[in-house]
Amino acid sequence: MDDLNHIDQEIQKLMWQMRTETLSKMKQPFNVDEKSGRKDLVTTVDKSNEKTIVTKLRELDPDAQILGEEGFGDQIDKATGRIWLIDPIDGTMNFVMQQNNFAIMISLYENGVGVLGYIMDVMNQKLYHGGPNGVFVNDEPLIAPANLHLRDALVGISGPLLINDDHNMQTIARQSRGPRMYGSAGIEFAKVLTGELIGYISYLRPWDFAAGKILAEALNLRVKTIDGGSLSMLSSNVVLVATERASEEIIGLAN
Ligand code: IPD
Ligand code: CA
Ligand code: CA
Repeated sequence: MDDLNHIDQEIQKLMWQMRTETLSKMKQPFNVDEKSGRKDLVTTVDKSNEKTIVTKLRELDPDAQILGEEGFGDQIDKATGRIWLIDPIDGTMNFVMQQNNFAIMISLYENGVGVLGYIMDVMNQKLYHGGPNGVFVNDEPLIAPANLHLRDALVGISGPLLINDDHNMQTIARQSRGPRMYGSAGIEFAKVLTGELIGYISYLRPWDFAAGKILAEALNLRVKTIDGGSLSMLSSNVVLVATERASEEIIGLAN
């Protein structure tokens, strides 16, 4: 692999290119299909974004494996070696219904350890990026958010978890200053990075949390399963990202 700094610069360029392409594809007609049901959508933009990203990653890092949500990467069952994860549109329902509040995400792990993470908030023109040595929004460094208690802040909770009161989510919401729901894991991770939310809880798959986990941990936030366990990069779980204090409080209330 080319040196990491070069790779990082190339992926940042790719994220801005994907933003431009996504904005132009949004202005033309695109097809929408259901995956598991009417609340789980995929569009031709998700698919073409993933194909473009896979092609670029193969060129930049030919020895790595790629896990893409829409299946244009590799079949991966072990977290060994270098693995790139792609969520070509995160928040596809928002993309289709709102043309707002969606993200593009890429990340790199090596032997299960996070190396680089990227979350592009397309409509707000913000690229959250970095790794264990620092996190940036565009060119501005991000500082770690204050280690607040749950009672002093807003918390992001996914719709299904809150509606069904899974893991006592309604109690957790009541103990906070209020629940918020944005419908895109990438956007919600970004809000935790900036301190707009004290935490975020949702059932997530690897490409939903991979980039956010790297950026959050670099800012001293905790990323765990809702029962307090460690989150392995190829697993699907109810995931909690939060400040250290709120993480302990939420895990206490959820179990
Ligand atoms: C979804 C969004 C949503 C989260 C779901 C994800 P997708 O991603 O991030 O907020 O609650 O679990 O699957 O399918 O739009 O990429
Ligand atoms: Ca997603
Ligand atoms: Ca997606």
